[in-house]
Amino acid sequence: MEKKNIDWSNLGFGYIKTDYRYVSNYKDGSWDEGTLTTDDTVTISECAGVLQYAQTVFEGMKAYTTEDGHIVTFRPDLNAERMVNSAKRLEMPVFPEDRFVQAVVDTVKANAAFVPPYGSGATLYIRPYMFGSNPVIGVKPADEYQFRVFATPVGPYFKGGVKPLTIRVSDFDRAAPHGTGHIKAGLNYAMSLHAIVDAHNQGFDENMYLDAATRTKVEETGGANFLFVTKDNTVVTPKSNSILPSITRRSLIYVAEHYLGLKVEEREVLFEEVKDFAECGLCGTAAVISPVGKIVDHGNEICFPAGMEKMGPITQKLYDTLTGIQMGRIEAPEGWLKVIE
Ligand code: PLP
Ligand code: COI
Repeated sequence: MEKKNIDWSNLGFGYIKTDYRYVSNYKDGSWDEGTLTTDDTVTISECAGVLQYAQTVFEGMKAYTTEDGHIVTFRPDLNAERMVNSAKRLEMPVFPEDRFVQAVVDTVKANAAFVPPYGSGATLYIRPYMFGSNPVIGVKPADEYQFRVFATPVGPYFKGGVKPLTIRVSDFDRAAPHGTGHIKAGLNYAMSLHAIVDAHNQGFDENMYLDAATRTKVEETGGANFLFVTKDNTVVTPKSNSILPSITRRSLIYVAEHYLGLKVEEREVLFEEVKDFAECGLCGTAAVISPVGKIVDHGNEICFPAGMEKMGPITQKLYDTLTGIQMGRIEAPEGWLKVIE
């Protein structure tokens, strides 16, 4: 199959329209059989639940070309499961997990010409999402929904690739205790837009959000979980009910323990202890593992010993092992890679 003529190695994290997307509609209590379409537009009522009350959830995942030329996705069953949890929290119907995975496979297969070649540094980002489509004016869930999957080739999420980032402690909160921080709902991102624009205007790459109740514990950024490394090489990752359960983070914990023989602690992380860590990184599908060199808390700088030039040594090992698994260079744990073709 001939690939599209795209400058793969210079892609940023942006939207490029691909040939096919998957659509299924929910009406009268059930999902239709779903189909691939070339139509990249959505037509809905002006009063649709998603437009009035932000009733929408989504997922983010990637397809990779492996060293031996296969196209694979990474743990799509976990994205399917997380979308079920997101949908339930927003009173949306569940899109069956097996159908979710099949829709992803169908979308990637149909857009195989857009899956970046092995070694290009780019990947195919896949965005499954679901929204309330019929009119609602009283505050209540919609009765009709659309589930869609599109894909777009992407490069690194942060400009500059793997150069360490500078982030600031945000004065804005991301998620309330007992709120929606643990699900992947559009509303969590809408409310982060002001904070990210403000952070960029002040010269920072991202925000570190603290727990809203006490503002003493590390939560996450707008689009990734945190990962720290202590001076004696223990991997520490914040545990909280109001952060997104990152699939990348869960995978890295396994990689750290089972591939690298490292000690891992998943626990509450006080902001106060951050200055004592040796390395810091952001992990997520889009971020992969992006190293953090500096955290600024209202003028007080925390500079990690690993510096601003390159990733710290443990972060680098985690990165190499995870991407090695995703690209088929390192044997994956059972069930982690779904071969598409
Ligand atoms: N946290 C937030 C707020 C995110 O948007 C994402 C991205 O999906 C993550 C964490 C990382 O999750 P995952 O590794 O499943 O992509
Ligand atoms: C992802 O990593 O898939 C996300 O959804 C994060 C988003 C900020 C791009």
